[in-house]
Amino acid sequence: MSKRTTIRDVAAAAGVSVTAVSLVLNNRPSRVSEERRRIILDAAERLHYVPNQVARTLVTQRSMLLALIMPDVQNLFFAALAKRIEDECRQAGYSLIIANTSDSRMAESEIIRRLSARGVDGMFLIAAGESCANVDALRSDVSECRCPVLFVDRLIDLDWCDGVGIDNRAGGRMAAQFLLECGHRRIACVSGDTRIGNAYERRDGFLEALRNAIAEDPVAVVEGDYRFEGGYDAADAVLESGATAVFCCNDLMAMGLMQRMHERGLAVPADLSVIGYDGIAERFGFGNPLTTIGQKIGWLAHESAMIMLDRIDHSGSDDFRHVTLPPELIRRGTVRII
Ligand code: RIB
Repeated sequence: MSKRTTIRDVAAAAGVSVTAVSLVLNNRPSRVSEERRRIILDAAERLHYVPNQVARTLVTQRSMLLALIMPDVQNLFFAALAKRIEDECRQAGYSLIIANTSDSRMAESEIIRRLSARGVDGMFLIAAGESCANVDALRSDVSECRCPVLFVDRLIDLDWCDGVGIDNRAGGRMAAQFLLECGHRRIACVSGDTRIGNAYERRDGFLEALRNAIAEDPVAVVEGDYRFEGGYDAADAVLESGATAVFCCNDLMAMGLMQRMHERGLAVPADLSVIGYDGIAERFGFGNPLTTIGQKIGWLAHESAMIMLDRIDHSGSDDFRHVTLPPELIRRGTVRII
């Protein structure tokens, strides 16, 4: 490990005082001449000087660290969202810590406490499945935080926090309407874990649209878990229901269901039409690209970052902001017209 360049090294290399270097590198107004300023900046660059963030945090009371707490790092949706949030944070001069809770309330509680103690300037929180069923405990953890907490994607009835998410009920309706437009009437649904708000919202939006259009219920509703295995395990029940089409409430479950069909020698959409939710990836090594309800991940990340940065700059006001973005239908190759 190379020796860290100090402000003293820069002063020595530039032939000026430590105070002059500190004034210039912290952009503070001073009587340092333009020519001298140039010499100092060149010396800092040449010596690869990086400010000591810990020292700077003591002065500015800002760690320039943000955190993203998510339920499942193995889920491509969360990975894609993390990348976009990290892009936004880096552009604003912040580093992002990513933490995984595996949908566990206990893990989430510990992570929130540790990151708050660590002095992060803000937390983006995608609530764990167990926390969605235990909001009071989550609320008390958030209330003990020394920094703003912003809920992303999984919004709970939030009158005590900022939140940015997609209109999941509209997404569920959109999936049902598209399958009905394609002539399907015997339709099944694989929902996510309905302790999670966006899972029952997608399912309920889907049910509502179906009942409004054809006064029929789905031929099967199977509760999944937003994981590949959940879709895989739900496949046989969906196939036995005689459905011609199925709405899987996220792409990972749609992948699992199609894997099981593949193993049973069945084809999509010939034997069953499949529509997913998330829009995280096109194809998964076999078969047609997945028709799905897309969640504008770039928007989610940008809106979340803007509210967080504003909250950090203007802490103390408690007019919490809630932004709900529209979903989008992404037509590809796994739904056929009948
Ligand atoms: O795929 C994971 C699901 O859980 C996504 O649909 C996302 O909305 C999340 O909450």
